[in-house]
Amino acid sequence: MRFGVLTGGGDAPGLNHALRALVIRSAQLGHEVLGFRDGWKGVLEGSAVLLRAADFEGLHDRGGTMLGTSRTNVFKVEGGPDRVRSQLAKQGVDVLIGIGGEDTLGVLNRLSRLGVPCVGVPKTIDNDLDATDFTIGFDTAIGRAMEAIDNLATTADSHHRCLIVEIMGRHAGWMTWYAGIAGCANVILLPEEPIDLDAVCKVVKDRAGADGRGFSIVAVSEGAALKEDDGLVLKDEGRDAFGHVKLGGIGEQLAKLIEGRTGVETRSVLLGHLQRGGPPSAMDRVLATQFGWRAAELAHARRFGLMPAARGGAIVDVPLADAVGRLKTVDADRLALSRGLWG
Ligand code: F6P
Repeated sequence: MRFGVLTGGGDAPGLNHALRALVIRSAQLGHEVLGFRDGWKGVLEGSAVLLRAADFEGLHDRGGTMLGTSRTNVFKVEGGPDRVRSQLAKQGVDVLIGIGGEDTLGVLNRLSRLGVPCVGVPKTIDNDLDATDFTIGFDTAIGRAMEAIDNLATTADSHHRCLIVEIMGRHAGWMTWYAGIAGCANVILLPEEPIDLDAVCKVVKDRAGADGRGFSIVAVSEGAALKEDDGLVLKDEGRDAFGHVKLGGIGEQLAKLIEGRTGVETRSVLLGHLQRGGPPSAMDRVLATQFGWRAAELAHARRFGLMPAARGGAIVDVPLADAVGRLKTVDADRLALSRGLWG
């Protein structure tokens, strides 16, 4: 058979390892893999290249995706699903393997329900896909955010400041929860719970101490919002093809409020795409390899509408529909832990 593969949505460190494992395992099972360039855009336009194991030599420490990616939405394009079908037929693709997050896999699931033979692979630095404990890219991204917190602590300490670090993750606080705890942030603010500014300021003030020589680190998710506010802080009013707002700026807003209320000099740092770029961690390389390997086996066995998932340390097969039905957010027990660590 010929398998087609695409990587869609925001890139994530580890994608090249998933592609490599998919290509190697597919060849062992007697299949070839056609890589579509730039996510759904490449599928719609028929822009593709045959992949061979040798293409991955030297890519072991390279983040991003060698296929390129985009946020193209098939269902927002005139005749999109039909164009996908005709391109797959034209290119001789028997099974389509989509590597992505809620958007890419959401499209894949809809195509699967329309009868296109599909297999998914879970990827997103946000880790907000349901039905899997972890997604490709998450471990690297939280490592980057943790390192940033480590670095900020020394300068915050020297200047007796409050430093706020704004972390990606959209409407789920996983990245901030993990990085905040790992980096021992003094305040951890997630989208799952409205920000209580009085409580935040109390921590900052108490830590500054009577002589004002203390410091604080506040880790805030880009999707967190103030209790007294009526909405999220946005970069601009634009939305992407999947209808997502562009988050960004809650750190700056908090910095002004905290400094105004406490008198402690406060600065904000937006990590942005630094969290997504660069070499993948060992955990992401291995998880991505396991997912890519299993995806080839699912396609070979013609077990469509499924994706490999990480559950309790094992790789299991789950329906695509289970992954995209609901956003996985930080649960109450974990929220209680991160809140309990404030101070
Ligand atoms: O979904 C991954 C993610 O990195 C989010 O954490 C972030 O809000 C968004 O993508 C940024 O998107 P873009 O790369 O399109 O600016």
